[in-house]
Amino acid sequence: MRANLSIVVLAALSAFMMLGNACGDPVHDDLVSALGAENPKVPTGPLHRPGQPCMACHGGRGPAKSAFSMAGTVFALIDKTDPLSGVVVNLKDSVAYPDPNSKGIDTTTNAAGNFFLHSDEFTPAYPVHVKLSHPTAPAGAGKVMYSHVGRDGSCASCHHDPVGTESPGHIYFADDPSGLPPSQ
Ligand code: HEC
Ligand code: HEC
Repeated sequence: MRANLSIVVLAALSAFMMLGNACGDPVHDDLVSALGAENPKVPTGPLHRPGQPCMACHGGRGPAKSAFSMAGTVFALIDKTDPLSGVVVNLKDSVAYPDPNSKGIDTTTNAAGNFFLHSDEFTPAYPVHVKLSHPTAPAGAGKVMYSHVGRDGSCASCHHDPVGTESPGHIYFADDPSGLPPSQ
């Protein structure tokens, strides 16, 4: 009797451990929990978590159900965290970039400065070249990332404050207000 019981317990325990191995990834779980709880003032959706590495949660491994291929946040200025909406984020992957006729893919930032592409709308062939413009900004305004994005579609994996050896800082559109679209 006693022997049978321990076999059952052992079997249940090993099934549980296998399940744990299949789903759990402590590094991923730690990354997600380090990002903290939702801001109660912002609904969970397109405007949430500006500046965070979106694909920590939207990378296909949860906890978000929807998966993105590339996503990030554009702020207005170098030293402030006001978002800039209406920024056209142009992405040219390794198929589009060498082709002089290819315009790549454009996506636009929303009121939180966030942009995102679901995996089923765009699956980039890395590396990806990035350019920012805005339809009503002064001529010559905008930014180019001179290096390219090698494999991580979450801009904020590299771009976060403070600026330092770990990061070029948050993504911003202009060095001073004269480079911003009117009324920003
Ligand atoms: C800590 C985890 C986490 C982070 C980081 C995160 N999200 Fe989400 N997001 C969620 C969850 C959970 C939902 C609920 C809906 C779901 O499961 O897809 C959601 C929903 C959304 C939705 C609505 C569903 C959809 O696909 O249209 C959008 C849009 C979205 N997030 C954008 C973003 C953007 C942009 C960023 C980065 C600036 C971001 N999220 C960062 C967890 C996260
Ligand atoms: C692998 C790390 C990494 C990722 C991921 C990354 N960047 Fe960058 N980015 C950099 C570095 C480093 C620089 C500074 C040197 C340069 O311009 O190449 C930079 C520069 C930039 C600049 C120019 C900044 C300036 O003031 O001139 C922009 C704009 C930019 N990135 C946007 C983005 C966007 C949008 C994404 C996501 C689609 C992204 N980056 C993803 C590392 C990264």
